[in-house]
Amino acid sequence: MSVHIGAKKGDIAETILLPGDPLRAKWIAETYFDNPFCFNEVRGMYGYTGTYNGKRVSVMGTGMGVPSISIYANELITEYGVKNLIRVGSAGSYQADVKIRDVVLAMSASSTSGVNELRFGGADYAPTANFGLFIKAVEAARSKNIPIKAGNVLSSDEFYEDDKESFKKWSKFGVLCVEMEAAGLYTIAAKHRVNALAILTISDSLVSGESTTSKERETTFKHMIEVALELA
Ligand code: ADE
Repeated sequence: MSVHIGAKKGDIAETILLPGDPLRAKWIAETYFDNPFCFNEVRGMYGYTGTYNGKRVSVMGTGMGVPSISIYANELITEYGVKNLIRVGSAGSYQADVKIRDVVLAMSASSTSGVNELRFGGADYAPTANFGLFIKAVEAARSKNIPIKAGNVLSSDEFYEDDKESFKKWSKFGVLCVEMEAAGLYTIAAKHRVNALAILTISDSLVSGESTTSKERETTFKHMIEVALELA
């Protein structure tokens, strides 16, 4: 086992789906995997491995925010040999034409997290999706007739922002939506020369104030998972 993951070497597949919520990881394994087994319960951060269309694949929760996903990504890569890390999560829209239920591929992730500022001594690093995974996700979405949008997203350190208007500056510079993990995932994957992609479903809009019901989130979440599973 590693510091935060109670799996044995070989328990985790080369490709892993990473929702923030561990109960969503359990739901994905129980809904989509054949013969799933649970490899982690440490901190309730459930992780499962099974097969999907005959291919071995894993899923595990990451918790919320750049520090949490960075810890799990580090251990998955360095201790368990994971090569493809696919975040599947929700995001809040920053653009009028990015609607509730839309699926967004994060090509790059700006951030309010201080981690990379520290790492690069105040210089800007541009966390970027893996091109191969990105192209495969586009092709999978097209073959399933699932419309997608792609571009820069914001990985924020805050969910409840003091300044409710602060999203407008990101919006003006073309940022599509806000979530809390992609920048951390992309940076750790790049450092270790492995592949990462964040696939997001819009759950709320800072532009219109709308949000999805839990039932709607379930249906739209399925589109995102079906695209992600094709990357295994
Ligand atoms: N994930 C979903 N909606 C979000 C929001 N409004 N801010 C940050 N992360 C989110």
